[in-house]
Amino acid sequence: MARSNPDPFDFQPGKILSGKYVIDEFLGGGWEGEAYLVREKATGFKRVAKFYYPERNEGGTSLREYVKRLEKLSDLNSVIRYMHSDSIRHKGERLDFMVSTHAPGRQLSYYIKKRGGALKPLESLLILEQIAVGLEAIHSRGMYHGDVHEDNVMVRRVGIHYEVRFLDFIHLGRTTRERKRDDVYDMLTLVRDMTGGKRKYARQPELVKTLVKGARRDLIYKTFPTARSVLKFLRSKDAPDFV
Ligand SMILES: Nc1ncnc2c1ncn2[C@@H]1O[C@H](COP(=O)(O)OP(=O)(O)O)[C@@H](O)[C@H]1O
Ligand SMILES: [Mg+2]
Repeated sequence: MARSNPDPFDFQPGKILSGKYVIDEFLGGGWEGEAYLVREKATGFKRVAKFYYPERNEGGTSLREYVKRLEKLSDLNSVIRYMHSDSIRHKGERLDFMVSTHAPGRQLSYYIKKRGGALKPLESLLILEQIAVGLEAIHSRGMYHGDVHEDNVMVRRVGIHYEVRFLDFIHLGRTTRERKRDDVYDMLTLVRDMTGGKRKYARQPELVKTLVKGARRDLIYKTFPTARSVLKFLRSKDAPDFV
């Protein structure tokens, strides 16, 4: 991450893409690019277009690897669905973008902010369980996410159920046991982020601490080597109390 941030694209509502989509609003940006809510002109359907900063998508690799993974995971409800890829000219340069379905709900980070920086343990654990279900399914198909954090997980609350959707898979190379294990580590440290971060960690209930383990990699790897092991623990009678 040595270099400075690329210039934002800053596309405005009403901009037409390849004659097919109209930009409605900016959704968010991160390391690789910027995502916009768009409407397909022919149908009026809501979609999301993600534009890549050319210097972070050399040879189209970031986009290609992302959509390959989305396509392989297209049977999972916990993953956004790939629609198609295209490019536009912008300031004399070719800009690649990919169109996907729009994940309902908000980023997990939005929920954390909305609750003043800390979700209650129960809510965090309900969300964790769904993230673990999603990761387990991704891993069992021989894939990994690579960048599990609060801005790449979309959450929609439906009553007491939390629907979770993953976006922004990154390409670090082929799937290995270590990469899957790192997804699990990121997921478990997310529990600390959800419950108020380091500041509140000492006061968390036993169950939260058993899962987060002070974010110590060696301990997490040993006790929770897979997403499945996390699920098994969450649903076992050995799991300590959490209120
Ligand atoms: N399919 C989608 N549905 C809803 N929101 C999305 C979608 N794709 C991206 N976003 C929003 O845009 C933000 C940036 O997109 P993301 O793919 O994470 O880009 P980056 O790689 O730059 O982090 C996300 O954090 C999310 O808020
Ligand atoms: Mg992101």
